[in-house]
Amino acid sequence: MIRPADDLEAMALAVETIRAGGLVSFPTETVYGLGCDALNPKAAARIFTVKQRPTFDPLIVHVADRAMLRRVVTEVGSNADRLIDAFWPGPLTLVLPKHPQVPDIVTAGLPTVAVRIPADPTALMLLRLSGRPIAAPSANPFGYVSPTTAQHVRDGLGDQVDVVLDGGPCPIGVESTILSLVGACPEVLRAGAVSLEDLRTLLGPRVQVAGPPSGVTMPGTLTRHYATRTPVTILSRVGERPMVPPGRRVGLLALSKSKECDDRFAVVEVLSPGGHVTDIARRLFAALRRMDEHGLDHLYVEPCEETGLGAAIMDRLRRCAAAR
Ligand code: TXA
Ligand code: MG
Repeated sequence: MIRPADDLEAMALAVETIRAGGLVSFPTETVYGLGCDALNPKAAARIFTVKQRPTFDPLIVHVADRAMLRRVVTEVGSNADRLIDAFWPGPLTLVLPKHPQVPDIVTAGLPTVAVRIPADPTALMLLRLSGRPIAAPSANPFGYVSPTTAQHVRDGLGDQVDVVLDGGPCPIGVESTILSLVGACPEVLRAGAVSLEDLRTLLGPRVQVAGPPSGVTMPGTLTRHYATRTPVTILSRVGERPMVPPGRRVGLLALSKSKECDDRFAVVEVLSPGGHVTDIARRLFAALRRMDEHGLDHLYVEPCEETGLGAAIMDRLRRCAAAR
């Protein structure tokens, strides 16, 4: 059931649900999560079932503060310390050595755990009042576009979630940056709102970007992920107009307003008339879902510049467009 996040009874029910091993979907600043007590392996197993997520794809553990962090990791080095001071609470997930009390199912058997303090007030209240670290992947069926509203969660997972806390649309709109701190150099495993540039400013030029996805241990980096049912092609530049064969229903997701008339497209959506990258990120997943509802033969999407948040936007679009 969907309940308003600012309703105290709904929050109390959500807290009880987490403690009892149930599933709660809650807003974060990035996307909606599907959460459970991270130390309860049965509850975690239900997340994999509900999402139809393969068990080799580990979950992100959310914590309320540094005290809770110490319950799920064995070591916080100096790099993590500086990153935590600079970016938490916020959209940065750190991969650190796992504490033995975190069940293997949560980390897919890895000796590491991905962890962050989210910035959303509802998420923080749920963590604090339940007193539990909360394992939460994005609240969508595996492989589909992540949810940025409570209704998206409902559309994708139906009534399989015990409680959905509705805190309104997510302000960032793309998933957190994932940074591994267990290798020789810090390595970005997934682009997000904390950009490579931000990370290099803090840790220096040795921050690496992970190579082409292996697709084995990191399904968030699987080539085809975050995907719509409608086939997607990314145009090579803003303003490019593809050939539309007669009889084909084709959509265009434009980033900013174009003067041209686009009546060859069955549907056109403009993400940000002013071309602001934060607006594009915030609206992207909802727009992809709307486009998917039109049952188009094909969807074309304009690209954006790949710096800052633009890198995360292009990463998600490429995975969405990857050949099926
Ligand atoms: O913004 C976010 O990160 C959202 C909100 C809910 O916090 N969560 C999210 O979770 O996007 P999910 O499960 O959709 O993506 C988590 C990614 C997966 O690709 C997984 O492979 C990776 O994190 N991951 C989790 N644990 C890991 C680990 N120990 N080492 C490397 N990658 C890990
Ligand atoms: Mg996900």
